[in-house]
Amino acid sequence: MAAPTREDKFSFGLWTVGWQARDLFGEATRPVLAAVEAVHRLSELGAYGITFHDDDLIPPGSSPDERDRIVREFRGALDETGLVVPMATTNLFGDPVFKDGGFTSNDRSVRRYAIRKVMRNLDLAAEFGAHTYVFWGGREASEVDFGKDVRAALDRYREAIDTLAQYVVDHDYGIRFALEPKPNEPRGDILLPTIGHALAFIHELEHADMVGINPETGHEQMATLNYTHGIAQALWAGKLFHIDLNGQKGPRYDQDLVFGYGDLLQAFSTVDLLDNGSAGGGPGYDGPRHFDYKPLRTESIEGVWESALANMETYLALREKARAFRADPEVQEALAAAWVPELAQPTLGEGETYADLLADRSAYEDFDIDRARTQGYGFARVQRLAVEHLLGRR
Ligand code: GCO
Ligand code: MN
Ligand code: MN
Ligand code: MN
Repeated sequence: MAAPTREDKFSFGLWTVGWQARDLFGEATRPVLAAVEAVHRLSELGAYGITFHDDDLIPPGSSPDERDRIVREFRGALDETGLVVPMATTNLFGDPVFKDGGFTSNDRSVRRYAIRKVMRNLDLAAEFGAHTYVFWGGREASEVDFGKDVRAALDRYREAIDTLAQYVVDHDYGIRFALEPKPNEPRGDILLPTIGHALAFIHELEHADMVGINPETGHEQMATLNYTHGIAQALWAGKLFHIDLNGQKGPRYDQDLVFGYGDLLQAFSTVDLLDNGSAGGGPGYDGPRHFDYKPLRTESIEGVWESALANMETYLALREKARAFRADPEVQEALAAAWVPELAQPTLGEGETYADLLADRSAYEDFDIDRARTQGYGFARVQRLAVEHLLGRR
């Protein structure tokens, strides 16, 4: 199998390979990974991009001079390697000031501070040429229903996004926003918990055209939802601005496993959708293939790079399999037999009205309903062939 290349557009969060593996129950198991080192190693492995939260790159409390030095050194590493920064984001969750949220804290002064923190990092994102800015609102949430006026919180969420969008427009930054849904963790009930909630929210925004979503595999699966379906709907709405790929074993805490290390069959359909588009000819996704995962806490730095590579290799392997699957004449025949292409055909004929439909006796009065009731759809064969391909038996 070919090694990852720049053309594959693989990117990683600085907080992923840089995670020191501090968890709820234990201390860090790995030392700090310098950003410059991360840039070089990711570049050697074949990635094309690196992303960051403001605080990943510039530790909170850094002096202006330190900030300048860090930015300069990071810039130098990017120039040396050719790695790009396709996306940046804000840490609005680590500092205890955000314990009740950033944009939706009940405390108005916290909300004002949060918007300022984002503006500051938007300037840096623009400086590094990022085209996407992610908003993951892990603390925009509550545990106590009576403690949060959800409608007011959504008003404030909208106000923050509208204000920041205006800031981007006025500064001509050419940045688009991507909201990242998650149902829970770190808080009990997070606002915009799923792709569907986020898409509905975007409709209410002033600059709705420049706001899309950044769905994460594991987050939808934590909510017991089908990730491939979710991103298909986002593509359908023209809102798949970015993606966080990873692995998750069903509805439990957020595992952030390597991509594919969970529901591998669903990862297969995810890659097929992203790369090949929909069966009816709907376009796929051509943005960064961004991995938001956590290298296992048991691993030293070798395991970090091993797992970073695993994300890309798994993606590439699934890409090869998806191509072979689509090209297999038996699969095409099975898809046709399951009428998959027929779904792309409009239900009414061209120019046909409901009056014409009412007049069409074959649609109702003479409809062979027994045939439709008793027929099989052939999905069992499609699934068998998909698994055969995934297992490398074809
Ligand atoms: C999580 C989220 C985050 C975000 C990140 C970028 O569950 O912790 O996935 O990792 O993706 O904050 O917005
Ligand atoms: Mn996650
Ligand atoms: Mn994420
Ligand atoms: Mn995460």
